Amino acid sequence: MTKTQDNEIIQEGKTEILVHKTKVSRKGPGTKDKKPFYNPAMELNRDISVLMSQWFIDLTRRHVYILDGLAASGINGIRLANEVKGNFTVIINDWNKNAFFLIKKNIEYNRLKNAFASNEELNILLSKNRYEYIDIDPFGSPAYFVDSAVRSITNNGLIACTATDTAALCGVYPKTCIRRYGAKPLHSHVMHEVGLRILIGFICREAAKYDKGIEPMLCYYRDHYFRVYLKIKRGVRYANRSISKISCVDPKKTSFTFSYKKFQGNNIGPLWIGRLHDKDIIKKLRDYLSEKDLNTRKTIWKLLDLFEEEADGPIFFHTTEHIASKLKISPPSMEKIFEKLCENGYNVRRTHFSPTGFKTDASLDEIEEIFKRINRETKRGR
Ligand SMILES: C[S@@+](CC[C@H](N)C(=O)[O-])C[C@H]1O[C@@H](n2cnc3c(N)ncnc32)[C@H](O)[C@@H]1O
Repeated sequence: MTKTQDNEIIQEGKTEILVHKTKVSRKGPGTKDKKPFYNPAMELNRDISVLMSQWFIDLTRRHVYILDGLAASGINGIRLANEVKGNFTVIINDWNKNAFFLIKKNIEYNRLKNAFASNEELNILLSKNRYEYIDIDPFGSPAYFVDSAVRSITNNGLIACTATDTAALCGVYPKTCIRRYGAKPLHSHVMHEVGLRILIGFICREAAKYDKGIEPMLCYYRDHYFRVYLKIKRGVRYANRSISKISCVDPKKTSFTFSYKKFQGNNIGPLWIGRLHDKDIIKKLRDYLSEKDLNTRKTIWKLLDLFEEEADGPIFFHTTEHIASKLKISPPSMEKIFEKLCENGYNVRRTHFSPTGFKTDASLDEIEEIFKRINRETKRGR
């Protein structure tokens, strides 16, 4: 492989690939840049993708067709072909010609027999073929591809989907969110959880049109992107079961109050109100994590702990700052809050959405009382 001034060979996991040096912004390289995009900040996302693919291939126990539908340099698909063991083929697709040639080069460089480059518009490809595993990793919103993906996916297949249009999903641009996802967001301390639940709810409704249901395996927010892994099950029974977990939420009737005045009194959503992770999968991912050579291992390990902890918790969470600021006191430590809530018989869990966030079955009045008590005790020096 030839290395030139504007490209370089990088290594992620066990895989070396040639990428173009692109000026990376969080929104992507911009529409004028015709060079395939490579974002090193998404390494953790791709590492988790390696683990999830290994879990899915081991579970399926027959030949699996994986589609990396929006591949750019091909890094994600190439890594799956190179680092995941088992009986599968990866189709690595991008409609950009430069990306297609780079993907081909990277397949040759890694001498992969289980990977093929493709140069098609993703919706067209999804309309022609069916896949067991579809990965959608767009610039911005995945909304334009979800209908085709839920039609193309095989029964019990896995859809992995990223969304980087956080400003829409988190309520900075509520009208955009309503247009794209048919749901009303909420710009507040829980905006990332609301955004994630809007995205899952949207995919659930798209699948339900075709009598398919969803089962979230692992869904998270991190570093300005959302990522969901959803198992898709064919059948009216599954579709109805999933749709029963879609709901609009009245902020005033939840166990806490929102500070965002514009939305007071109005429902938000529709949102997915079911679970975000499957705890059994988290256990398996830990096993794969200890076997694989991944640079982000330590961070993933901590994330998996948080996913496991929050998996059975209620929807939404409080943060120490927003309650303390409402009460005009300084925020107590997380340790103190956990200690006091447990002493009073409540369940309390950390959440991956915020380092100062906690999910609990205590009511807001009870939480505030505990905050005040801790504050009084601290002042008395106890
Ligand atoms: C965010 S990049 C993908 C990044 C890549 N998955 C990675 O891990 O580095 C999105 C890619 O989708 C491609 N793309 C956008 N719309 C497409 C479409 N309708 N069909 C096929 N490819 C498309 C773009 O050319 C771009 O390379």
